[in-house]
Amino acid sequence: MNSKLLHISTIGCQMNVYDANQIAGVLAPMGYCGTDDIASADMVIVNTCTIREKAEQKAFSFLGRLAKLKAANPAMIVAVGGCVAQQEGKAILKRMPHVDLVFGTHAIFRLPEMVRRIEASRCRIVDVRLSDTIEFDGPVAGPLADGQVSAFVTIMRGCDNFCTYCVVPHVRGREASRHPDRILDEIRMRVDQGVREVTLLGQNVNSYGNKEGLCRFYELLERVNGIDGLSRIRFTTSHPKDLSRELIDAFGRLEKLCHHMHLPVQSGDDGILKRMNRRYTRDSYLDKIERLRTTCPDIAITSDFIVGFPGETDRQFQATLDLIEKVRYDGLFAFMYSDRPSAPATAFSGKIDESVKKERLQALLALQTGITREKHQTLVGQIREVLVEGTSRSLDTDGLASVDHTIQWTGRTSSNHIVHFAVPDDQATGKELLTGAFANIMIERAHAHSLWGRLVQGPMGATPEKGEKPIAA
Ligand code: SAH
Ligand code: SF4
Ligand code: F3S
Repeated sequence: MNSKLLHISTIGCQMNVYDANQIAGVLAPMGYCGTDDIASADMVIVNTCTIREKAEQKAFSFLGRLAKLKAANPAMIVAVGGCVAQQEGKAILKRMPHVDLVFGTHAIFRLPEMVRRIEASRCRIVDVRLSDTIEFDGPVAGPLADGQVSAFVTIMRGCDNFCTYCVVPHVRGREASRHPDRILDEIRMRVDQGVREVTLLGQNVNSYGNKEGLCRFYELLERVNGIDGLSRIRFTTSHPKDLSRELIDAFGRLEKLCHHMHLPVQSGDDGILKRMNRRYTRDSYLDKIERLRTTCPDIAITSDFIVGFPGETDRQFQATLDLIEKVRYDGLFAFMYSDRPSAPATAFSGKIDESVKKERLQALLALQTGITREKHQTLVGQIREVLVEGTSRSLDTDGLASVDHTIQWTGRTSSNHIVHFAVPDDQATGKELLTGAFANIMIERAHAHSLWGRLVQGPMGATPEKGEKPIAA
């Protein structure tokens, strides 16, 4: 079989990153292997996002730039996948004559057949069919980067929540869960390939399996926790209204479950939450945070916020700032509200000026930056166990550049803090040995986005699992 070069560009969330890997996985048997060099590719796939207007614009401007490449190399196949493809369908073919294929979020497993048809007859194809059930459940474990320690595993797709600002239910379809046995098969394949940590993905993992009468999410976690050779489990995203007592309890019971919960709240005001159709209140949210912290005192909590939702008053925005001060998050993502064509809030009155949205965003981020700094500072002097991910790509940006004869390593704590540390060359156990191992790090410096420390002597903080590589300096 002739080898052909495939370039995939991904914009958007972790689910798109996972999908890109699946795309590479299903096309590999046709002879397609990955390349970073877009100009020499036989096929370019743009995996798009439309969560905010900017993301959609980014996708179209990237696609626009591909016209030149295609003119220079007419044999190149240009394909558009992901959420813009699902939203726009054949309008993309009309707007962009250089595009050969538009495939939606449920069409990934039909790709080989479509690509075969295009290779044979240079036809143009659109497939944006959505299905209520999962027609092909894999598992496909696409290619991994050299020494990749952590991998995503999607456990469910779609969303039935219909938050009034959100495009996801419209472009990812109805909620549907994968069979637990297939999920476990996929994780085992990853572990055999050297992965030590998985992040289970879904728009609302707390309702995993409900519709199909499969196991509950906490039961799935129990099964994943039992996989030999796997060291850590993460998951995202949890909808606060569905966060169950059993899932909270799992943090006290499952030793591989990382001490981190991403629990998007969006706003701290009950009126806004109601108009967002979030179906929880500020108090019920705060109550769940308290229960999480009682069960797992060192749990890191992060969240998402939208500022400038239609009709948001200064007082309502203040309620959001007040919530942030109360919870004292370990980190957060904040976005300016953006109208999406299929989302009901687009028709709401009381749109907020861009300048006001910007001011609110800055005030919110400034508040959180202070909290993050203070929380990072409390970690200085403590020893934390990190799962080593590899050598640092960037050096210490605060001017504390690497010293000669040391190698900068990077890893994450259970609470998802990124930790950089240096190991002198003469002690270095080599990339193969350190990557994927647990290391005890004494935190010495705290910055806004990362922590710096040093490898400490002594026993590991946790009993190594089968297949794990313990190290001590
Ligand atoms: N399923 C996840 C979130 C998916 S989208 C959940 O429910 O939490 C990721 C984040 O994008 C959301 O949490 C929200 O903060 C933000 N977002 C979604 N739609 C948006 C819009 N129209 N404008 C601005 N931000 C938006
Ligand atoms: Fe969007 Fe709400 Fe579904 Fe999250 S839960 S994907 S914000 S509709
Ligand atoms: Fe974007 Fe689609 Fe994810 S809209 S955020 S890529 S689900």
